[in-house]
Amino acid sequence: MNFKKELAQILFEALEGEISVEQLEQSIEKPKNSSLGDLAFPCFPLAKVKRKAPNVIAQELKEKVQSPTFEKVEVVGAYLNLFLNKKLVSEQVISKIIAEGGQYGSQDFGAGGNVTIDMSSPNIAKPFSMGHLRSTVIGNSIALILEKCGFKPIRINHLGDWGTQFGKLISAYKHWGDAEKVKENPIKELLSLYVQFHAEAETKPELEDEGRSWFKRLEDGDEEALSLWQWFRDESLKEFSRIYELMNVEFDSFAGEAFYNDKMDRVVNLLEEKGLLVESDQAQVVELTDEQLPPCLIKKSDGATLYATRDLAAALYRKENYDFVQSVYVVGHEQSLHFKQLISVLKKMGYDWADKMVHVPFGMMLKDGKKMSTRKGKVVLLEEVLNESIVMALNNIEEKNPNLVNKDEVAKQVGVGAVIFHDLKNNRMNDIEFSLEEMLRFEGETGPYVQYSFARACSILRKGEWTPAAYDASANQTTWEKEWKVITMLMEFSNAIKRAGENYDPSQVAKYIVDLAQSFNKYYAEVKVLEDSEEKQARLALVYSVTAVLKEGLRLLGIAAPEEM
Ligand code: ARG
Repeated sequence: MNFKKELAQILFEALEGEISVEQLEQSIEKPKNSSLGDLAFPCFPLAKVKRKAPNVIAQELKEKVQSPTFEKVEVVGAYLNLFLNKKLVSEQVISKIIAEGGQYGSQDFGAGGNVTIDMSSPNIAKPFSMGHLRSTVIGNSIALILEKCGFKPIRINHLGDWGTQFGKLISAYKHWGDAEKVKENPIKELLSLYVQFHAEAETKPELEDEGRSWFKRLEDGDEEALSLWQWFRDESLKEFSRIYELMNVEFDSFAGEAFYNDKMDRVVNLLEEKGLLVESDQAQVVELTDEQLPPCLIKKSDGATLYATRDLAAALYRKENYDFVQSVYVVGHEQSLHFKQLISVLKKMGYDWADKMVHVPFGMMLKDGKKMSTRKGKVVLLEEVLNESIVMALNNIEEKNPNLVNKDEVAKQVGVGAVIFHDLKNNRMNDIEFSLEEMLRFEGETGPYVQYSFARACSILRKGEWTPAAYDASANQTTWEKEWKVITMLMEFSNAIKRAGENYDPSQVAKYIVDLAQSFNKYYAEVKVLEDSEEKQARLALVYSVTAVLKEGLRLLGIAAPEEM
């Protein structure tokens, strides 16, 4: 059903194999104006090879395109313009969607290869920030899209659960902590202990040493230090889990920074063996002058390891345990330098697979044009944002559809979906302005708009009592003229997925489903789908196909598709 490929094959034969099928397929265009046809092939690049004028070549090729797929072929200047056979193509597309359902649009270029996806990765004992929300949402969608492309995604939550700050936290807890308070409200309480530590350390610098020594005890496996740390970690994870559950995101691994504590010596030894470690200001670093990067810090003067050391150990561990074909890190763009250094160090160590590591960066979430920050007490609690969004969605439902049975469930799907869609609809590098009102609009490019279009299409199917099992292609009495715009959109799904998968870019899918929803709504405004006519079953089949693709598109973004809302 790849008509570009079919045309490329025909041209390949017509040109007697002078140009490869792949090359031909690549040069086939989609005319900007659909009145010029569905596909176009520019002939001017052939003029040199053929020593003929492009329009002469186009004329010659025209004679050779003899396939029922193309109902009309025209020469316009140097172009060969082709019109697809609407009836034949539409029925093929619809039958394919009915047969494949959620599988429609799947690709196989992943060939079953493992892809580790480092995503979400919040820091324990701290509120889940907007940056971590973005990483969660983008990472989850990338995982779903890569799976659709034939890869096997492995979602890894590289928790920030190790480092000197946990020594400070233990020290603060020992001085001022209250177990009951921590149990009641772990993140809030732990954060305020941490803030207090810094405030007090201004006048009592000995606290800093105390914090460092607690971290040393932690690294050395001291029982008290470990059990406090474990407790902080468990409490934090409990809180994070609520958010993950709300967003329907699951992980294959929670191996965070602490997990690599006992795997760090090996990295340091390897670096030493390979002669890469040098001393600088009493610290151990890897110089990256050839790479034009600042040195990568491996070990501090007191022997403590760093973020980068743990990431090196993690990279080795992932390669050895998952034998990835790609290793993706969905982390904000402010860490670009860190990942450049990481990859460069691994290459210096002689690991060619470092080329398969990809940092997938993203922009910031802004509020009133400023970065949303968790520091200085200006905490924006993600859970509150999600809950507020759910309440707003519920109000909306009360207003529009007060008799809906599972209101709360739908409000959750719409409220959470709105936040996710808002994040994914733009190129991930763009900063995004946070606005609940904007996210929850039922018109424009929003999650609720797509979900609403889906629900509306489902309701048409219910009224028409249409089921895929009863579809009989031979009974169609349609020219598919009015349906053609929607059909061409349905054909594009696979390309959108491919682009999204190749570029780690969920916005390709988000934009696609908005376009599909718009073209469907336009169609529905023009055509009386449910009116008794010979065309009714074909129209309903089209509506069904739209629901199948919208649902799958939403799923690939990590968003549910309620059938009523
Ligand atoms: N915990 C880190 C942070 O919040 C993000 C970790 C990203 N993943 C990694 N492998 N470095 O900044």
